[in-house]
Amino acid sequence: MRNPIIVALDVPNAEQALKLAATVAPAVGAFKIGSELFTSAGPDIVRQVRATGAAVFLDLKFHDIPNTVAKAVASATRLDVQMLTIHTSGGAAMMKAAEESAQRTAAQAGLNVPLVLGVTVLTSSDANTLAEIGCEPNPGRQVERLAALAVQAGLRGLVCSPLEIAALRQILPASVQLVTPGIRTGAEKADDQKRTLSPREAIQAGANWLVIGRPIYAAENSRAAAENILASLN
Ligand code: C5P
Repeated sequence: MRNPIIVALDVPNAEQALKLAATVAPAVGAFKIGSELFTSAGPDIVRQVRATGAAVFLDLKFHDIPNTVAKAVASATRLDVQMLTIHTSGGAAMMKAAEESAQRTAAQAGLNVPLVLGVTVLTSSDANTLAEIGCEPNPGRQVERLAALAVQAGLRGLVCSPLEIAALRQILPASVQLVTPGIRTGAEKADDQKRTLSPREAIQAGANWLVIGRPIYAAENSRAAAENILASLN
């Protein structure tokens, strides 16, 4: 089995990101670059991490008119990232434009097509948040609705919370890749993740990839933390 651990490089600058990446690289499968690091270090940090040979998940959660999202996805594809995120609440036309752009751009550039992942309902949203913006207020039902729409629109993967994996596996084709944050081993300090599973439980529930931040980067020994998580999966 390939290594399913994606380490979130949730650090403020390129220097810290490259240091963390070098420390844990042998024990992990990919690195996630999100808004904080990308906004401070720019596309160069993507190129630098890719230059080490590591796979990159660019988590910028695009949500805009289809034409703009298609162009942003084209730019990400040319950076040779392996995964990227868009918001499914942007609608079917936006998701279709994103997937088509990834396919077309990769073919033109002679690169592999990145996995365009749909983000459904953020785990920070609850029934009140959904009601506030005029959506179906049941978070589980809204997740399932957006997930089904994403697959219809041609997306091949989704980001979901650990507690949604089992329900999504019931309604989605088995080929859909599920990427899940909210992973905790029990060894770390309590933080803002409330609804968690262990790495092994998440894989057993049907996750293909695990996004892990603090349990690795905030550990006293990040490399050992990553190695322990990997060992717990076998
Ligand atoms: O430190 P921790 O393991 O909680 O990091 C999880 C990563 O996954 C962070 O980069 C966080 O932004 C991201 N994420 C999340 N929950 C979501 C979507 C993304 O924790 N629903």
